[in-house]
Amino acid sequence: MISCQKSAFSLDPQVHYLNCAYMSPLSKRVEETGITALRGKRSPATITPDDFFDVPERVRETFAGLVGGNAKDVALFPSVSYGIATAARNLHPVTGQNIVVLHEQFPSNVYTWMRLAEESGADLRTVYRPAADTLSDVHEAWNEAILSAIDVGTAIVAVPIVHWADGTLFDMAAIRRRCDRFGAALIVDGTQSIGALPFSVASARPDALITAGYKWLFGPYSCALGWMGPRFAEGVPIEENWINRKGSEQFAGLVDYESDYQPGACRYDVGEKSNFILMPMLLAALEQVSEWTPAAIQEYTRQLVEPFEERILDAGYHLAPAHTRGAHLFGVRLPGGQSVKAVRRALSERNVSVSVRGNAIRIAPHVYNDETDVRALVDALESAAVS
Ligand SMILES: Cc1ncc(COP(=O)(O)O)c(C=O)c1O
Repeated sequence: MISCQKSAFSLDPQVHYLNCAYMSPLSKRVEETGITALRGKRSPATITPDDFFDVPERVRETFAGLVGGNAKDVALFPSVSYGIATAARNLHPVTGQNIVVLHEQFPSNVYTWMRLAEESGADLRTVYRPAADTLSDVHEAWNEAILSAIDVGTAIVAVPIVHWADGTLFDMAAIRRRCDRFGAALIVDGTQSIGALPFSVASARPDALITAGYKWLFGPYSCALGWMGPRFAEGVPIEENWINRKGSEQFAGLVDYESDYQPGACRYDVGEKSNFILMPMLLAALEQVSEWTPAAIQEYTRQLVEPFEERILDAGYHLAPAHTRGAHLFGVRLPGGQSVKAVRRALSERNVSVSVRGNAIRIAPHVYNDETDVRALVDALESAAVS
């Protein structure tokens, strides 16, 4: 079990930051790494050709370790939408087939599929969040509906591991089995889970796993990572840059144009992937998360919030049962008639930072949070409930 890591961050002590799903705070370790890296550009002569490759390779290795894969299958992207576009570039659905996505899925994992559907004549099939009596029933019915939506015509299933708005958990093993049955490609957006929820590409076997770096991985903005499975071993990137070509380490020979890519998923890397400021920061962040471990983070957040759950329910709010949602990311739904405005005001009066999504409040704790933060949240919810 890890202890509270507040002292590893420079968070404002007046603010109860329970919003890692929005973006993680910068740890002191990542901040210092960034400052040192920024200063490196003062003297470009100290930046060597090896520096173009070494840190990106270590980022690949560290991310691979975190998701149970091989470094050679990791690609470096600037955003999730870029990674999703890369996967889409190499998938070829045809008229009459379908692409499965979920209701209110994050747009970076939707727009590309809308376009692919339009261009290929495939149907975009959205699996809606079912209406049900309890949140537990919603979870079960939604997972069942996803499995039923995957059929003989399914070319692609593009889903998250948890829903970004309320942390609903999706049954990745069952989805994989169903995809296997019909030969569908499984493209997973791990942005709201990788780093805080254990996930292994070796056992879950997605075809591609794409995740942003600036949330649960603690990296800077504009860095994302992809694990690209065997289906993408020989694919085509969405841009052709010099550094992804075979032999690019030999700077003197760059205009001896080369038709082969470097081996592995690095063919998909974004141009200027060596970003000398962001990459060292991302590496420091990934090393930190690997030391904490996703399993220990999940357990920390579970133990932090669990003692307060009864108070939330007693105040009339809806909270899905623990096994149906993330401990690191979950929604508190307002009862009918309860004003979102009043809840927002109560949260702001107590300096509680969370996100409000429709009639749900998204709570996203991490290891820098302690009991005081959760108490402030629950005090705010209670005060809004009685006002
Ligand atoms: C589930 C999910 N995917 C992706 C993103 C970010 O996408 P992008 O990197 O394309 O901006 C977010 C941001 O909130 C998200 O919640």
